[in-house]
Amino acid sequence: MGGLAQPLDMNNHIETLTSSPVSGLSGEMLIPGDKSISHRALILGGMAIGQTKISGLLMGADVLSTLEAVRALGVTITSDAGIITINGVGTGGFIPPKAPLDLGNAGTGVRLLMGAVAGQPISAVFTGDASLSKRPMKRITDPLAMMGAQIAYTPEGDQKGYLPVTITGAQPPLPLSYEMPVASAQIKSAILFAALNARGQTIVTEPHLSRDHSEAMLSHFGVKLTREMLEDGRHRITLEGEVDLHAKDIFVPRDPSSAAFAIVAALITDESHIRLPGISLNPQRTGLITTLQEMGGNIVIENQRIEGGEDVGDIIVKSSQLSGIEVPAERSASMIDEYPILSVAASRAKGKTYMPGVAELRVKETDRISVMAEGLKACGVEVSETNDSMTVIGAGAIKGGATIASQHDHRIAMSFLVLGMVAQNSITMLDVATISTSFPDFAAIMNKSGAHLEAGVKL
Ligand code: S3P
Repeated sequence: MGGLAQPLDMNNHIETLTSSPVSGLSGEMLIPGDKSISHRALILGGMAIGQTKISGLLMGADVLSTLEAVRALGVTITSDAGIITINGVGTGGFIPPKAPLDLGNAGTGVRLLMGAVAGQPISAVFTGDASLSKRPMKRITDPLAMMGAQIAYTPEGDQKGYLPVTITGAQPPLPLSYEMPVASAQIKSAILFAALNARGQTIVTEPHLSRDHSEAMLSHFGVKLTREMLEDGRHRITLEGEVDLHAKDIFVPRDPSSAAFAIVAALITDESHIRLPGISLNPQRTGLITTLQEMGGNIVIENQRIEGGEDVGDIIVKSSQLSGIEVPAERSASMIDEYPILSVAASRAKGKTYMPGVAELRVKETDRISVMAEGLKACGVEVSETNDSMTVIGAGAIKGGATIASQHDHRIAMSFLVLGMVAQNSITMLDVATISTSFPDFAAIMNKSGAHLEAGVKL
């Protein structure tokens, strides 16, 4: 079936997308820039001394929220012909914002900026949308308080650690030695950003290595970090403060977490063959590719190279019959955002896919275990869950025919739209504007390759 070729402007009041069965996805898909690297480029570019030019920045809603917040902290940011120019103010140069910093849906943006503000002599109020206001923030603010920052939640938000929160930076922050309770790049990054202004050694230890884009970018800006893998698998970073960041241009590779939707779509639809050029192959982000290959997925990486200091490659995917597997729990940090789309792939695989060690999914944009389980069941797929695992029993035929609310979670919305491509009856997703969080042209890019995603307004 042919796709809608015209671009869909996700900001233009499109409220629903209906995905119908297709085969033969083909061609080259240009996936947008990496969200994690984009947030860090704006924040650290703003804290560097001198001018940073960024190419490939993701122009998604989350990153634009961070961009506006960094501007509100006194940093001049301009854009010309796809290049973003930041005039950094140094590690202590943020000014108090005139209004609360509204980070919208951006969990990474709010958490990393909290760390940056906690190390500077200013106060800022952090707010977000309904979904972000129900996500735990104490995992970030507790260590920042230990560094001397003052943290004030509202009386209603205090118990759970929900936004809004006011952070008054420590003058100066104290170095911290911190054992993280979970492997989280956001906690790690917030502490490291605050530590830039703390005199002495800050040591952060995490149970497994989470994505290391902050460490890579700090090194890129001239900060000396020591990184060690301990014998028991824990990972430790030592940063010696106070330290300046020296501006340097940044290249943002294409986002493997967004590529994941195209990869699974091509694997599970018949007669598909796509190419995704220039995708980040950071080893802390490639867990899904490894998993899908173990399931029998025909995924080949070509032209592996370093671009702008980042590992990238072209990913070629062909339709494949997948088989269920047990996904190693210790792999979860390297594919934590990919479990919703993996559970879609698992629905089409032969046999059972068991995904243990994924409790963190319950505190993402939604409780992704229960939202995926509920939606898959509505589409006729057999799923079970425990507090920290999900099991999907693959079915040859998927009934589909459901209307599912995205619950303001971009990855939930895109996952079910991919499922709709192989269901017997089309699947309608409500509240799809959330997709612009990370992948604004998702519908247009998928349709150009042969998908059939049709836009509508709410019934
Ligand atoms: C991110 C870290 C991950 C991930 C999120 C982006 C980051 O969360 O889920 O989408 O850019 O640092 P953790 O803090 O759990 O690692």
